[in-house]
Amino acid sequence: MKVRKAVIPAAGLGTRVLPASKAMPKEMLAIVDKPAIQYIVEEAVQSGIEEIMIITSRGKTTVEDHFDRAPELENVLLQRGKKDVYDEIVSISKLANISYIRQKETKGLGHAILCAKAFVGNEPFAVLYGDDVIKADYPVCRQLCDAYEEFGLGVAGIKEVSEEAIQKYSSLKVDPIRDNLFRVSDMIEKPSSPDQVLSLYSILGRCVLPPEIFAILEKTPPGTGGEIQLTDAMKKLAQVKGMVGVDFIGKRYDMGNKLGILEAIVEIGLEHKEVGADFREYLKKMASQL
Ligand code: UTP
Repeated sequence: MKVRKAVIPAAGLGTRVLPASKAMPKEMLAIVDKPAIQYIVEEAVQSGIEEIMIITSRGKTTVEDHFDRAPELENVLLQRGKKDVYDEIVSISKLANISYIRQKETKGLGHAILCAKAFVGNEPFAVLYGDDVIKADYPVCRQLCDAYEEFGLGVAGIKEVSEEAIQKYSSLKVDPIRDNLFRVSDMIEKPSSPDQVLSLYSILGRCVLPPEIFAILEKTPPGTGGEIQLTDAMKKLAQVKGMVGVDFIGKRYDMGNKLGILEAIVEIGLEHKEVGADFREYLKKMASQL
């Protein structure tokens, strides 16, 4: 079945990037001149997604404003003859068919996804984590949808992480299928000791799930950190039906931590068509003084 819908959870508190995220959603932090969540919506659209639901929360209305029309600003841009900028600003509001729902309490990623139950209905859907920007020639959400459409099983975007990092992520039991595809039969969220680690493969930023996940989520008790973990529900799915892991081809930037934000700005800034060349010169000069 074709994957037409996507859910972007963006209701978290962003405690790792405070104070930046106190009044500004971390999903709205700019990489050069574009908020993180716009890169993510663009990836979904480029992947063939037709309808998007963004999960927001109190204090995140700037997300809705960003994808809305801005008549005052648009008029001023037209009056000043800035047609290029006007076109770009208007195009953001036409990117996709986006709806919003508020997660009233920050009870975890699993709980956030559950808020999209009525929107998703009885079809598969992609999940793009609102603070994970992934740059790729072939959109990573599309890479996962391809796997879903081939195997008809839930799909997780996976990557190997270091031994030190695995305790902060999930750890998956994987068996190779072919190329960058794996069968996933078990997983654990934030393994607390080395004997709990199933492999260094972890779920990073993207998945495609069947609608059955909602019935599982409804029965999933709070796990690590007292939050309803999406990983705990996917574990059940992996154990009962099996899932597929796609070791995706793309570079992920974690906008939920400070180093990730700096990496994104530097690497995407270097390729920016307006300022990239000047920025490169600046960086070379800086680097020679380090
Ligand atoms: P994270 O765990 O990275 O976000 O969730 P967080 O809770 O904001 O992080 P810290 O630890 O406090 O810094 C991944 C994605 O899921 C969303 C977040 O907004 C982020 O985009 N999320 C998380 C929700 O929508 N609701 C939640 O209850 C938790």
